[in-house]
Amino acid sequence: MLIHRCPYLFVERREDVAFSLDDLLGGGSGAVTRGRWVALAAPLAEEHELDGDDLRLLEAVGCEDPVPRAELERGHAPERIDRLLAAGLLLGESVPHQRLRARARQMQAAGWWPLAAAMQAFGRWRGVDVQEHPRETIADMVAAHGPAPAETHARGDVAHRLSLPPPRKTALDDLLARRVTCRNFAADGVVPLAQLADLLHRVFGEQGRQELAPGAVALKKNSPSGGGLHPVEAYVLAQRVEGLAPGLYHYHAVAHALEPLSAGDVGPGDGAMAATDPSGLDAADPSGWDATPPGGWASLALRLVAGQTWFANAPVLVLMTARFDRNFWKYQRHAKAWKVVQLDAGHLSQNLYLTATEMGHGAFVTGAINDEVIEQVLGLDGVTEGPVLINGFGPRAEQIVVGELDPNGRLDA
Ligand SMILES: Cc1cc2nc3c(=O)[nH]c(=O)nc-3n(C[C@H](O)[C@H](O)[C@H](O)COP(=O)(O)O)c2cc1C
Repeated sequence: MLIHRCPYLFVERREDVAFSLDDLLGGGSGAVTRGRWVALAAPLAEEHELDGDDLRLLEAVGCEDPVPRAELERGHAPERIDRLLAAGLLLGESVPHQRLRARARQMQAAGWWPLAAAMQAFGRWRGVDVQEHPRETIADMVAAHGPAPAETHARGDVAHRLSLPPPRKTALDDLLARRVTCRNFAADGVVPLAQLADLLHRVFGEQGRQELAPGAVALKKNSPSGGGLHPVEAYVLAQRVEGLAPGLYHYHAVAHALEPLSAGDVGPGDGAMAATDPSGLDAADPSGWDATPPGGWASLALRLVAGQTWFANAPVLVLMTARFDRNFWKYQRHAKAWKVVQLDAGHLSQNLYLTATEMGHGAFVTGAINDEVIEQVLGLDGVTEGPVLINGFGPRAEQIVVGELDPNGRLDA
């Protein structure tokens, strides 16, 4: 059998501090540090601990130049080879390993910068519920880490400051001042379809187009985009939209139309999702998928926003994804490209907030999302296209139960 090393592999040295009675009795502080190597292979998206002999074995195998197993066994224990094969850090010819190699080739073809591929792979959540673990209060954080760095900082001598003319306010300032992250949506609040259409067009829709060269069209939108490529896509999870059946839709930015996602695009429910492994080593069986997820749309919404009940009941969730391959087509293996894609999404999010605010709605954004669930329900491979953030909007509740930041009382204005 020929053996390859898994591509896009990084190795991190981690140090854990543990209590040791022996150390304490021997006159030490009782705190001993244990160092360990951790393998982070982007196609695998799963950590594995390594020892020094594992590292030497990985060093002996190429990603491109495979080594026959018999040759490896001359210098390395067969059990060690088996263990790294089982982990997916070494790849043979099995179907799961072929899938991993195909995923790595896909990363290569999409133009991923290796460190960004690792960030994307290891920053993904699958079954996170942020409310499962009691959160530290801000007062706890101050007690544990000391005061927060100052709210802004001064540079240079105060005497050298140039005071600016007082700001002149326009209607835009008024709109900006009313923008607040909403964590209290009306339980039965509904968004009319016409408002959803207006918002999608203003935030994500084509406002113009230009052929940059034969084979490369740029869309003009209402926000800037690194390289002018607008790789961010919008998917709508409609929970309560008057005139639109609840469900998942893709917004077509050029046609200004919603594309209902077919039954095959919508993933299975809780149990099957938990079993999903992006590496393909344990791929879920896609047969038997249904357009309405088990537990309904509300339960799916809650999983998408990682258990944040204060966001999950918004009438409309907008799932932003990025077609990384579109941006990386121009910025191949570029150190800034992944970051620029995230920044694009931030600009779109602010336009969504402002549009919703102007409509009299509350809006939110969250980065605390279960990326792998999103990939599954939208049928994304996570390499050419993957999740970035979730926005939502709709009528506010009359009472604020979950905290919001409105020091100037603009919500009561
Ligand atoms: C990228 C990003 C991610 C955020 N993620 C969360 C989140 O996961 N949960 C949440 O309750 N708020 C989230 N927020 C909202 C912030 O907490 C909020 O913007 C901040 O407290 C300031 O309040 P304001 O938006 O009302 O001015 C996020 C904001 C941004 C920009």
